[in-house]
Amino acid sequence: MPHVSNVIATVNDVKVISELVHRHGVKLLVDGAQAVPHMPVNMTEYGVDFYAFSGVKVTGSEGTGALYVAPELHDQLHPFDGGGDMMHGLTQDAINYKPFPHNLEPGTRIYSSAIALGRAIETLQTIGMENIHREIHALGLYAYRRLQVVKGISFLPPNPEDGTSDGSLIPFTFYHEFPNVTNAAVARALGKRGIMLREGCLCAQLTTMHFGWDGQEGVIRPSFYPLYNDYDEIDRMVEALQEIVPDLAATLPMPAPRPS
Ligand SMILES: Cc1ncc(COP(=O)(O)O)c(C=O)c1O
Repeated sequence: MPHVSNVIATVNDVKVISELVHRHGVKLLVDGAQAVPHMPVNMTEYGVDFYAFSGVKVTGSEGTGALYVAPELHDQLHPFDGGGDMMHGLTQDAINYKPFPHNLEPGTRIYSSAIALGRAIETLQTIGMENIHREIHALGLYAYRRLQVVKGISFLPPNPEDGTSDGSLIPFTFYHEFPNVTNAAVARALGKRGIMLREGCLCAQLTTMHFGWDGQEGVIRPSFYPLYNDYDEIDRMVEALQEIVPDLAATLPMPAPRPS
C-alpha cells in the first residue's frame, strides 16, 4: 500500500490500516516512496511490518533505497540470493548465515551511494521535514488555485484545498473538454518550453480508472518540491498552458477510437 499516492497525493492513514489488516492476520508492506521525502514518518508508531522508500526521491542517488522490517520479522526473512560477506562460513551441508540484515546483503554493496543517501537524509532533516511538508502543501495549493484559470482543465477529486491531497502533485487533463489534446502532446509542448512534468498512467492505471478516467491516458502530473521548485515556475507553467492548450485543440487531429 502506498503511504502517499503518486497519482492523487492522498495520504493514507497507515496506523489505522495497519491495525485493521493485523486484526485479519495480514502483513502490511507500505511503499513510502512519496511520503519519506515529504513528511515526518515513524514506522514503529505505525506498527507496520515493512516500510520501503526510494533514495532518489529523498535527493539521494539512483538505485538506492531502504526497507524497514519490524524486529519480530527479522528472523523470518531468508536470503533469495547469495554472495560474499553474508555468512560466517559453510560446510558441505549447511550455510551459517550472519544475522539480519547482513544475511540479506550479498556481495559488494554500493557504499558510496549509501553514504550519499545518508547525507541526503541528514540534509532534509536539517531543513526539517515539517517545514518541507508545509512548503510542499503551500506550493501545491498555489498551483491548484492558479490552474483553475486554464480553459478545459479537469482535476481528479483529491486536492490540497480540502486536505484530501497533500499538494505534492496536481493531476489534471484536458481530454474531457478537448479529446484531441492528449496528455503526451501537452507534456511535449511544455517540455519544449523547459517545463518538465510526468504524464501517463504513472504505473497506477487503476487509480485513474477508479475516478472514471481513462487508465491508459492517465493524467498530466506536475509535482513540487521546495528544494528546487518555486512559485514563479508554477506561474510559468500556468501561462504556458493557457497558450499551448487552445493551440493544440485547434491543430491536433481527433484521436482514433480505441479498441475496447
Ligand atoms: C509510489 C512509488 N513507489 C515506487 C516508485 C519507484 O521508485 P524507484 O524507481 O526509485 O525504485 C515510485 C516512483 O516513481 C513511486 O512513485
